[in-house]
Amino acid sequence: MDPHFSRLSETLAAADQSHLLQFWKELSPQEQAVMTADLEAISFGEINGFFKNAMEMSNSSKQEKMDGRMEPVPKDALGSVTRDQDSMTDWEKEGLRCVSQSRVAVLLLAGGQGTRLGVQYPKGMYDVGLPSHKTLFQIQAERILRLQRLAGKMHDTKSQIPWYIMTSGKTMGATRDYFLKHSFFGLEPSQVIFFTQGMLPAMDYSGKIILESKGKVSMAPDGNGGLYRALAKQGIVEDMERRGVEQIHVYCVDNILVKVADPAFIGFCVLKGADCGAKVVEKTNPTEAVGVVCKVDGVYQVVEYSEITLPTAQRRGADGRLTFNAGNVCNHFFSIGFLKDVVQKYEPQLQHHVAQKKIPSVDPQGRRTSPDKPNGIKMEKFVFDIFQFSKKFVVFEVLREDEFSPLKNADSQDGKDTPSTARHALMSLHHRWVLNAGGHFIDENGTRVPAIPRDGDAGAVSRDVSANLKDGTDLPIKCEISPLVSYGGEGLSELVKGKEFRPSLVIDEAGVHELVKNGV
Ligand code: UTP
Repeated sequence: MDPHFSRLSETLAAADQSHLLQFWKELSPQEQAVMTADLEAISFGEINGFFKNAMEMSNSSKQEKMDGRMEPVPKDALGSVTRDQDSMTDWEKEGLRCVSQSRVAVLLLAGGQGTRLGVQYPKGMYDVGLPSHKTLFQIQAERILRLQRLAGKMHDTKSQIPWYIMTSGKTMGATRDYFLKHSFFGLEPSQVIFFTQGMLPAMDYSGKIILESKGKVSMAPDGNGGLYRALAKQGIVEDMERRGVEQIHVYCVDNILVKVADPAFIGFCVLKGADCGAKVVEKTNPTEAVGVVCKVDGVYQVVEYSEITLPTAQRRGADGRLTFNAGNVCNHFFSIGFLKDVVQKYEPQLQHHVAQKKIPSVDPQGRRTSPDKPNGIKMEKFVFDIFQFSKKFVVFEVLREDEFSPLKNADSQDGKDTPSTARHALMSLHHRWVLNAGGHFIDENGTRVPAIPRDGDAGAVSRDVSANLKDGTDLPIKCEISPLVSYGGEGLSELVKGKEFRPSLVIDEAGVHELVKNGV
C-alpha cells in the first residue's frame, strides 16, 4: 500500500476526518502529492479543538443575550472630535510629534477574501472610479507620505511611518506584485512590510472538514484577529521594536476615508495614557447592524447587534442619544507594550467565532456544488477580541461622514457600502474641504452652487450619499484632492480661497485642474 496513504489515513482516522481521502484513488500522482502536503500542514487535533470551542461559544451566545451585563463607555474614557474641540489641537500636536519621531506605525488588515465585492484580486487594488482612478492602496500610501512630510516639516525631522500589511496566502502574491509594479507609490520599499495570516479549514456543522474539490480541502483565512498569531509567527513585534515603534494604528483596507496614523487619535490615546483605543462613529439608528464598543462584565468588548435585544438597542440617555452608540469602525490604537503582551501572553485565550457561510464543496459523487444557503462554518478570530486585556482603554468618537465609508459590496441599486457610496463619500468630503478653505463651485451657467442645496436644485451637491444613489442622480460634485496635497483638509486655502470652480475639480501635486468633461 502507498505509504503516504496509510500514514495519512491513520492520522485522519484518529481525528475522525477519514472522508478527506474518499477520492484518493481518483487523484493523479501529482494531485496526491499536493493533497498530502496540504493535509500534513494541518494540525487536526488543534482544528477539532477549535471547532468544539467555537461551536460551544456560538451556542451559548445564541441562548443568552448580553443585555444585562452591558454598560456604555464611561465619559472619562471618551474623546470626541465634535464635543472636545478645545483639546483637538493638543491631541493633534502630540500625534504629529510622535509621527515626527518615527514612533508611529500603521498596520493594515488586508487578508480578507472580499467575497461580497466579488473581485478576483485583493480589495486594496480596487478602483472605485475617482477621477484619478487611484486604488485604495494608493490612497492610503499617499496619506502616509503626506503625513510623514507634514510631521517632518513641523519638527524638522525626517520621519518614517512603517506600514505593516497583513495579507493571506490567497492575497500575498498579488499584493506584493502590485506594490512592486507601482514602486511602492513613493514610499521606501523598506518601510512596507508584508506578512501573512494563517488559514483554517472550513467545516460542516458536525465538524467534518469540507472538501472544495476531490483533492483539495476548503481553506479560509482565520479572521482579522488571526493578526496576533501571525505577528508572533513572523516576528513582527520584534521588527517594530527594532525600528523604535511605540504606537500602532490598526485599520481595515476597505475604508476609503481612513485617516491612516491619524495624529488626533494617536495623540488622544497617548495623552490619556492608554494602552489600547478604538475609534468609533455614533450609531444613530437602533437597528443598524454595527457592533458597539461597550463594557461587558466590566471589561471592554465589541457587542454585535445580534447579541442584544431590541429594547437595549433602542435605549436612550438623557441627551436623547442611543445609550450604546459607540459604533465600531475597525480603527484601533495599540501601545507596543500592549501588543507585545497580547502576542506573547493572551493570544491563546482568544476563541474563534463561527461564521456560517455558503461553502462550495463536492457531493458524495465528487461533483462540485455551490450551495444557495449556508452549509458550513468558517472559524474566525476578531481583531477587537483583545480589548478585554487592556488596562487603560479609551474611545475616540469621530464623524462618520469624515472618516468612515467601507467598501463591502458590488454596485447595485440601493446598495450599501458599494464602490459608488465610497466614491461619493470621498468626493463629498473633498468638496467640503474646498468650501471650508474659501473656494466655491459654479454650475454650467456660472451660477454659484449653494453649499447646502435646496431640494430639487439642479446640480445639488452635498445631499446624503445614499439619497443620491436612490434617486439615481450621480452626485455629489466631482471633486478629488490628492492626499499628497492635503491629508485632512489642510493647506488648501492658498489654492482655492476666493476662487470659483467648475466640477470636476481635481487638485494634485501638479496644480488645480477643472476637468471639462465630467467623465467620472
Ligand atoms: P470583512 O469581514 O469585511 O471581510 O473584513 P472581507 O474579506 O473584506 O469581505 P467579505 O466578508 O469576504 O465579503 C474586514 C477587514 O478585515 C480584513 C479584511 O481584509 C478587511 O480589511 N480581514 C478579514 C483580514 O485581514 N483577514 C480575515 O481573515 C478577514
